[in-house]
Amino acid sequence: MKRRIGILTSGGDCPGLNAAIRGVARAAYEMFDAEIIGISDGYRGLIEGDWQEMKRSQFSGILTLGGTILGTKRTPFRNMRVIGEDNVDKVAAMKKNYADMKLDCLVTLGGNGTHKTANLLSEEGLNVIGLPKTIDNDIYGTDFTFGFHTAVDIATDVIDRIHTTAASHGRVMVIEIMGNKAGWLTLYSGIAGGADVVLLPEIPYDIKEVAKCVENRIKNKKSFTIIAVAEGAMDRKEAKMKRKEREQARQEAGFNGIANRICKELTAVMPEIEARAVVPGHLQRGGSPSAYDRVLSTQFGVHAAQLIAQQEYGVTVALVGNTITHNKLSEIAGVPKLVPVDHQMVQVARDMGISFGDK
Ligand code: F6P
Repeated sequence: MKRRIGILTSGGDCPGLNAAIRGVARAAYEMFDAEIIGISDGYRGLIEGDWQEMKRSQFSGILTLGGTILGTKRTPFRNMRVIGEDNVDKVAAMKKNYADMKLDCLVTLGGNGTHKTANLLSEEGLNVIGLPKTIDNDIYGTDFTFGFHTAVDIATDVIDRIHTTAASHGRVMVIEIMGNKAGWLTLYSGIAGGADVVLLPEIPYDIKEVAKCVENRIKNKKSFTIIAVAEGAMDRKEAKMKRKEREQARQEAGFNGIANRICKELTAVMPEIEARAVVPGHLQRGGSPSAYDRVLSTQFGVHAAQLIAQQEYGVTVALVGNTITHNKLSEIAGVPKLVPVDHQMVQVARDMGISFGDK
Protein backbone atom coordinates (compact mmCIF):
# COMPACT_ATOMS: atom_id res chain seq x y z
CA MET A 1 0.00 0.00 0.00
CA LYS A 2 1.37 3.39 -0.96
CA ARG A 3 0.20 6.64 0.66
CA ARG A 4 1.20 10.25 0.04
CA ILE A 5 0.62 12.21 3.23
CA GLY A 6 0.67 15.99 3.54
CA ILE A 7 1.45 17.40 7.00
CA LEU A 8 0.98 20.96 8.21
CA THR A 9 1.12 22.76 11.56
CA SER A 10 -1.15 25.76 11.98
CA GLY A 11 -1.94 28.38 14.65
CA GLY A 12 0.28 29.17 17.64
CA ASP A 13 3.22 26.81 18.10
CA CYS A 14 3.60 24.64 21.18
CA PRO A 15 5.89 21.97 22.59
CA GLY A 16 5.21 18.54 21.11
CA LEU A 17 4.49 19.54 17.50
CA ASN A 18 7.72 17.99 16.25
CA ALA A 19 7.23 14.91 18.41
CA ALA A 20 3.76 14.46 16.86
CA ILE A 21 5.07 15.01 13.30
CA ARG A 22 7.76 12.42 14.03
CA GLY A 23 5.14 10.04 15.43
CA VAL A 24 3.05 10.22 12.25
CA ALA A 25 6.08 9.88 9.98
CA ARG A 26 7.87 7.06 11.74
CA ALA A 27 4.74 4.97 12.19
CA ALA A 28 3.73 5.60 8.57
CA TYR A 29 7.18 4.51 7.29
CA GLU A 30 6.98 1.43 9.50
CA MET A 31 3.45 0.46 8.56
CA PHE A 32 3.25 1.15 4.82
CA ASP A 33 5.01 2.66 1.82
CA ALA A 34 4.76 6.30 2.83
CA GLU A 35 5.72 9.48 1.04
CA ILE A 36 5.49 12.56 3.21
CA ILE A 37 5.04 16.11 2.03
CA GLY A 38 5.84 18.90 4.47
CA ILE A 39 3.65 21.96 3.93
CA SER A 40 5.18 25.24 5.13
CA ASP A 41 3.53 27.63 7.60
CA GLY A 42 0.20 25.85 7.95
CA TYR A 43 -2.63 26.75 5.61
CA ARG A 44 -0.50 29.53 4.08
CA GLY A 45 1.64 26.86 2.44
CA LEU A 46 -1.41 24.88 1.36
CA ILE A 47 -2.98 27.98 -0.20
CA GLU A 48 0.22 29.14 -1.90
CA GLY A 49 1.58 25.72 -2.87
CA ASP A 50 4.65 26.03 -0.64
CA TRP A 51 5.69 22.46 0.14
CA GLN A 52 8.55 19.98 -0.06
CA GLU A 53 8.94 16.21 -0.28
CA MET A 54 10.41 15.18 3.06
CA LYS A 55 13.24 12.72 3.51
CA ARG A 56 13.04 10.12 6.25
CA SER A 57 16.13 11.64 7.86
CA GLN A 58 14.28 14.94 8.39
CA PHE A 59 12.17 13.28 11.06
CA SER A 60 15.21 12.25 13.09
CA GLY A 61 16.44 14.21 16.07
CA ILE A 62 13.24 16.24 16.45
CA LEU A 63 11.52 14.47 19.37
CA THR A 64 12.84 16.93 21.93
CA LEU A 65 12.78 20.00 19.71
CA GLY A 66 10.33 22.82 20.54
CA GLY A 67 8.41 24.77 17.89
CA THR A 68 7.71 23.15 14.54
CA ILE A 69 10.12 22.16 11.77
CA LEU A 70 7.37 22.99 9.24
CA GLY A 71 6.74 26.56 10.43
CA THR A 72 3.31 27.81 11.41
CA LYS A 73 1.05 30.78 10.90
CA ARG A 74 -2.34 31.97 12.03
CA THR A 75 -4.67 31.91 8.99
CA PRO A 76 -8.08 32.78 10.48
CA PHE A 77 -10.92 30.43 9.58
CA ARG A 78 -13.35 33.35 9.26
CA ASN A 79 -11.41 34.55 6.17
CA MET A 80 -11.10 31.18 4.48
CA ARG A 81 -14.12 31.69 2.25
CA VAL A 82 -13.52 35.42 1.84
CA ILE A 83 -11.81 36.49 -1.35
CA GLY A 84 -9.52 39.38 -0.45
CA GLU A 85 -7.64 42.01 -2.44
CA ASP A 86 -5.26 39.37 -3.81
CA ASN A 87 -8.29 37.82 -5.54
CA VAL A 88 -7.31 34.32 -4.33
CA ASP A 89 -10.07 31.80 -3.71
CA LYS A 90 -8.33 30.15 -0.76
CA VAL A 91 -10.53 27.05 -0.61
CA ALA A 92 -10.16 26.40 -4.35
CA ALA A 93 -6.39 26.99 -4.05
CA MET A 94 -6.08 24.48 -1.18
CA LYS A 95 -8.04 21.87 -3.13
CA LYS A 96 -5.93 22.42 -6.24
CA ASN A 97 -2.65 22.17 -4.31
CA TYR A 98 -3.86 19.01 -2.54
CA ALA A 99 -4.50 17.52 -6.00
CA ASP A 100 -1.18 18.84 -7.41
CA MET A 101 0.69 17.22 -4.50
CA LYS A 102 -1.19 13.99 -5.34
CA LEU A 103 -2.05 13.54 -1.68
CA ASP A 104 -3.99 10.60 -0.30
CA CYS A 105 -4.58 12.59 2.86
CA LEU A 106 -3.72 15.69 4.83
CA VAL A 107 -2.74 15.68 8.52
CA THR A 108 -3.35 19.02 10.25
CA LEU A 109 -1.82 19.74 13.66
CA GLY A 110 -3.50 22.63 15.42
CA GLY A 111 -6.05 24.12 17.75
CA ASN A 112 -9.67 25.20 17.36
CA GLY A 113 -9.16 27.44 14.32
CA THR A 114 -7.09 24.77 12.58
CA HIS A 115 -9.79 22.19 13.21
CA LYS A 116 -12.50 24.44 11.76
CA THR A 117 -10.56 24.75 8.50
CA ALA A 118 -9.72 21.02 8.59
CA ASN A 119 -13.45 20.32 8.82
CA LEU A 120 -14.17 22.71 5.95
CA LEU A 121 -11.63 20.86 3.78
CA SER A 122 -13.11 17.53 4.82
CA GLU A 123 -16.57 18.78 3.80
CA GLU A 124 -15.02 19.83 0.49
CA GLY A 125 -14.06 16.20 -0.08
CA LEU A 126 -10.41 16.09 1.05
CA ASN A 127 -9.17 13.27 3.30
CA VAL A 128 -8.22 15.03 6.52
CA ILE A 129 -7.02 13.91 9.95
CA GLY A 130 -6.56 16.40 12.79
CA LEU A 131 -4.20 16.25 15.76
CA PRO A 132 -5.19 18.39 18.77
CA LYS A 133 -2.40 20.71 19.92
CA THR A 134 -2.60 23.77 22.14
CA ILE A 135 -1.29 24.92 25.47
CA ASP A 136 -4.87 26.10 26.15
CA ASN A 137 -6.30 22.53 26.30
CA ASP A 138 -9.56 23.89 24.89
CA ILE A 139 -10.38 21.39 22.14
CA TYR A 140 -13.65 19.60 22.64
CA GLY A 141 -13.69 15.80 22.78
CA THR A 142 -10.18 15.21 24.12
CA ASP A 143 -9.20 15.18 27.78
CA PHE A 144 -5.86 16.74 26.93
CA THR A 145 -4.17 18.36 23.98
CA PHE A 146 -0.43 18.01 23.51
CA GLY A 147 1.54 21.06 24.64
CA PHE A 148 -0.73 21.65 27.61
CA HIS A 149 1.23 19.71 30.22
CA THR A 150 4.54 21.28 29.22
CA ALA A 151 2.96 24.72 29.58
CA VAL A 152 1.56 23.70 32.98
CA ASP A 153 5.11 22.71 34.01
CA ILE A 154 6.53 26.03 32.82
CA ALA A 155 3.79 28.17 34.39
CA THR A 156 4.14 26.20 37.65
CA ASP A 157 7.87 26.86 37.64
CA VAL A 158 7.14 30.58 37.21
CA ILE A 159 4.72 30.52 40.18
CA ASP A 160 7.29 28.61 42.27
CA ARG A 161 9.99 31.16 41.54
CA ILE A 162 7.68 34.10 42.18
CA HIS A 163 6.85 32.65 45.59
CA THR A 164 10.36 33.34 46.88
CA THR A 165 10.30 37.02 45.88
CA ALA A 166 6.73 37.39 47.11
CA ALA A 167 7.71 35.96 50.49
CA SER A 168 10.98 37.94 50.81
CA HIS A 169 9.29 41.27 50.05
CA GLY A 170 5.85 40.56 51.48
CA ARG A 171 4.18 41.41 48.17
CA VAL A 172 1.10 40.51 46.23
CA MET A 173 2.36 38.97 42.99
CA VAL A 174 -0.06 38.73 40.06
CA ILE A 175 1.04 36.23 37.41
CA GLU A 176 -0.65 36.40 34.02
CA ILE A 177 -1.00 32.94 32.51
CA MET A 178 -1.83 32.37 28.83
CA GLY A 179 -5.39 31.46 27.87
CA ASN A 180 -7.73 33.96 26.37
CA LYS A 181 -10.98 32.04 26.41
CA ALA A 182 -10.18 28.96 28.48
CA GLY A 183 -8.66 28.94 31.95
CA TRP A 184 -7.33 25.36 32.04
CA LEU A 185 -3.68 26.39 32.10
CA THR A 186 -4.25 28.88 34.93
CA LEU A 187 -6.36 26.39 36.89
CA TYR A 188 -3.81 23.56 36.69
CA SER A 189 -0.68 25.67 37.20
CA GLY A 190 -2.45 27.65 39.94
CA ILE A 191 -3.15 24.44 41.84
CA ALA A 192 0.30 22.99 41.10
CA GLY A 193 2.05 26.21 42.12
CA GLY A 194 -0.02 26.75 45.26
CA ALA A 195 -1.59 30.04 44.16
CA ASP A 196 -3.92 31.71 46.67
CA VAL A 197 -6.21 33.24 44.07
CA VAL A 198 -7.02 31.83 40.62
CA LEU A 199 -8.93 34.03 38.17
CA LEU A 200 -10.38 32.42 35.05
CA PRO A 201 -12.26 33.77 32.01
CA GLU A 202 -15.10 31.37 32.88
CA ILE A 203 -15.59 32.75 36.42
CA PRO A 204 -15.91 36.56 36.39
CA TYR A 205 -14.23 38.12 39.41
CA ASP A 206 -15.06 40.94 41.79
CA ILE A 207 -11.96 42.84 42.90
CA LYS A 208 -13.49 43.29 46.36
CA GLU A 209 -13.54 39.50 46.76
CA VAL A 210 -9.90 39.28 45.67
CA ALA A 211 -9.02 42.01 48.18
CA LYS A 212 -10.90 40.10 50.89
CA CYS A 213 -8.68 37.09 50.29
CA VAL A 214 -5.52 39.22 50.53
CA GLU A 215 -6.84 40.83 53.75
CA ASN A 216 -7.60 37.42 55.28
CA ARG A 217 -4.11 36.27 54.51
CA ILE A 218 -2.64 39.36 56.15
CA LYS A 219 -4.86 38.72 59.19
CA ASN A 220 -3.50 35.16 59.27
CA LYS A 221 0.06 36.53 59.29
CA LYS A 222 0.77 35.59 55.66
CA SER A 223 2.88 38.38 54.33
CA PHE A 224 2.33 37.63 50.64
CA THR A 225 -0.34 36.51 48.20
CA ILE A 226 0.04 34.79 44.84
CA ILE A 227 -2.63 35.50 42.24
CA ALA A 228 -2.67 33.42 39.04
CA VAL A 229 -4.83 35.17 36.45
CA ALA A 230 -5.68 33.94 32.96
CA GLU A 231 -4.97 36.54 30.29
CA GLY A 232 -8.65 36.43 29.27
CA ALA A 233 -10.07 36.87 32.80
CA MET A 234 -12.66 39.60 33.25
CA ASP A 235 -14.60 41.19 36.06
CA ARG A 236 -18.35 40.87 36.59
CA LYS A 237 -19.17 44.12 34.85
CA GLU A 238 -17.13 43.18 31.78
CA ALA A 239 -18.66 39.72 31.67
CA LYS A 240 -22.03 41.32 30.93
CA MET A 241 -20.64 43.19 27.91
CA LYS A 242 -20.31 41.98 24.33
CA ARG A 243 -16.70 41.30 23.27
CA LYS A 244 -16.39 44.44 21.10
CA GLU A 245 -17.93 46.60 23.84
CA ARG A 246 -15.51 45.15 26.40
CA GLU A 247 -12.52 45.74 24.15
CA GLN A 248 -13.55 49.34 23.60
CA ALA A 249 -14.07 49.96 27.31
CA ARG A 250 -10.65 48.52 28.01
CA GLN A 251 -9.00 50.61 25.33
CA GLU A 252 -10.56 53.76 26.70
CA ALA A 253 -9.32 52.85 30.19
CA GLY A 254 -5.75 52.36 28.91
CA PHE A 255 -5.81 48.60 29.55
CA ASN A 256 -2.35 47.04 29.32
CA GLY A 257 -2.94 43.46 30.37
CA ILE A 258 -5.08 41.89 33.06
CA ALA A 259 -2.24 41.37 35.58
CA ASN A 260 -1.34 45.06 35.47
CA ARG A 261 -4.97 46.01 35.88
CA ILE A 262 -5.45 43.75 38.88
CA CYS A 263 -2.38 45.29 40.54
CA LYS A 264 -3.85 48.75 39.94
CA GLU A 265 -7.33 47.79 41.15
CA LEU A 266 -6.00 46.06 44.25
CA THR A 267 -3.72 48.88 45.33
CA ALA A 268 -6.63 51.30 44.82
CA VAL A 269 -8.69 49.43 47.41
CA MET A 270 -5.69 48.41 49.57
CA PRO A 271 -3.12 51.22 49.38
CA GLU A 272 -1.07 49.56 52.13
CA ILE A 273 0.01 46.62 49.91
CA GLU A 274 2.74 46.37 47.31
CA ALA A 275 1.68 44.52 44.15
CA ARG A 276 3.67 43.46 41.09
CA ALA A 277 2.58 41.98 37.77
CA VAL A 278 4.52 39.16 36.08
CA VAL A 279 3.82 38.18 32.48
CA PRO A 280 5.73 35.05 31.35
CA GLY A 281 3.96 35.24 27.96
CA HIS A 282 5.34 33.10 25.15
CA LEU A 283 7.87 31.44 27.44
CA GLN A 284 4.93 29.18 28.26
CA ARG A 285 4.95 27.84 24.68
CA GLY A 286 8.69 27.61 24.25
CA GLY A 287 11.32 24.91 24.42
CA SER A 288 11.37 21.17 24.70
CA PRO A 289 8.18 19.17 25.39
CA SER A 290 7.87 17.44 28.77
CA ALA A 291 8.09 13.65 28.95
CA TYR A 292 4.28 13.53 29.24
CA ASP A 293 3.83 15.57 26.06
CA ARG A 294 6.46 13.56 24.17
CA VAL A 295 4.51 10.41 24.95
CA LEU A 296 1.10 11.95 24.16
CA SER A 297 2.32 13.52 20.90
CA THR A 298 3.85 10.20 19.86
CA GLN A 299 0.64 8.33 20.71
CA PHE A 300 -1.43 10.87 18.73
CA GLY A 301 0.95 10.68 15.75
CA VAL A 302 0.94 6.90 15.68
CA HIS A 303 -2.86 6.83 15.92
CA ALA A 304 -3.04 9.17 12.91
CA ALA A 305 -0.82 6.77 10.93
CA GLN A 306 -3.08 3.87 11.95
CA LEU A 307 -6.12 5.82 10.72
CA ILE A 308 -4.35 6.47 7.40
CA ALA A 309 -3.64 2.74 7.10
CA GLN A 310 -7.37 2.10 7.58
CA GLN A 311 -8.29 5.00 5.27
CA GLU A 312 -10.41 6.53 8.00
CA TYR A 313 -10.65 10.26 7.45
CA GLY A 314 -12.69 13.28 8.54
CA VAL A 315 -11.61 12.71 12.15
CA THR A 316 -9.35 14.16 14.80
CA VAL A 317 -7.33 12.16 17.29
CA ALA A 318 -8.24 12.39 20.99
CA LEU A 319 -7.41 11.12 24.46
CA VAL A 320 -10.48 9.91 26.32
CA GLY A 321 -9.96 8.33 29.71
CA ASN A 322 -6.66 6.58 29.21
CA THR A 323 -7.35 5.58 25.64
CA ILE A 324 -6.28 7.16 22.38
CA THR A 325 -9.25 7.38 20.06
CA HIS A 326 -10.72 9.80 17.51
CA ASN A 327 -13.76 12.02 17.01
CA LYS A 328 -15.50 13.18 13.88
CA LEU A 329 -14.17 16.56 12.80
CA SER A 330 -17.73 17.69 12.12
CA GLU A 331 -18.65 17.02 15.76
CA ILE A 332 -15.77 18.83 17.44
CA ALA A 333 -14.79 21.65 15.05
CA GLY A 334 -15.78 25.03 16.41
CA VAL A 335 -16.81 23.69 19.82
CA PRO A 336 -14.46 25.20 22.43
CA LYS A 337 -13.88 23.28 25.64
CA LEU A 338 -14.07 25.82 28.45
CA VAL A 339 -13.68 25.12 32.17
CA PRO A 340 -17.14 24.21 33.50
CA VAL A 341 -17.75 26.32 36.61
CA ASP A 342 -18.65 23.18 38.54
CA HIS A 343 -15.68 21.16 37.24
CA GLN A 344 -14.13 18.81 39.78
CA MET A 345 -10.80 20.67 39.60
CA VAL A 346 -12.56 23.94 40.44
CA GLN A 347 -14.10 22.25 43.46
CA VAL A 348 -10.71 20.79 44.46
CA ALA A 349 -9.27 24.30 44.36
CA ARG A 350 -12.18 25.76 46.36
CA ASP A 351 -11.85 22.99 48.94
CA MET A 352 -8.16 23.90 49.24
CA GLY A 353 -9.17 27.45 50.12
CA ILE A 354 -8.20 28.93 46.75
CA SER A 355 -10.32 31.97 45.90
CA PHE A 356 -11.74 32.47 42.41
CA GLY A 357 -12.59 36.06 43.29
CA ASP A 358 -16.29 35.34 43.01
CA LYS A 359 -17.41 34.78 46.60
O1 F6P B 1 -3.59 29.48 21.73
C1 F6P B 1 -2.37 29.52 22.37
C2 F6P B 1 -2.05 30.91 22.85
O2 F6P B 1 -0.77 30.91 23.44
C3 F6P B 1 -3.07 31.53 23.80
O3 F6P B 1 -2.95 31.06 25.12
C4 F6P B 1 -2.79 32.99 23.65
O4 F6P B 1 -3.93 33.73 23.98
C5 F6P B 1 -2.45 33.10 22.19
O5 F6P B 1 -2.02 31.83 21.77
C6 F6P B 1 -1.37 34.10 21.88
O6 F6P B 1 -1.26 34.18 20.51
P1 F6P B 1 -0.03 34.80 19.71
O7 F6P B 1 1.11 33.83 19.80
O8 F6P B 1 -0.54 34.94 18.32
O9 F6P B 1 0.31 36.09 20.38
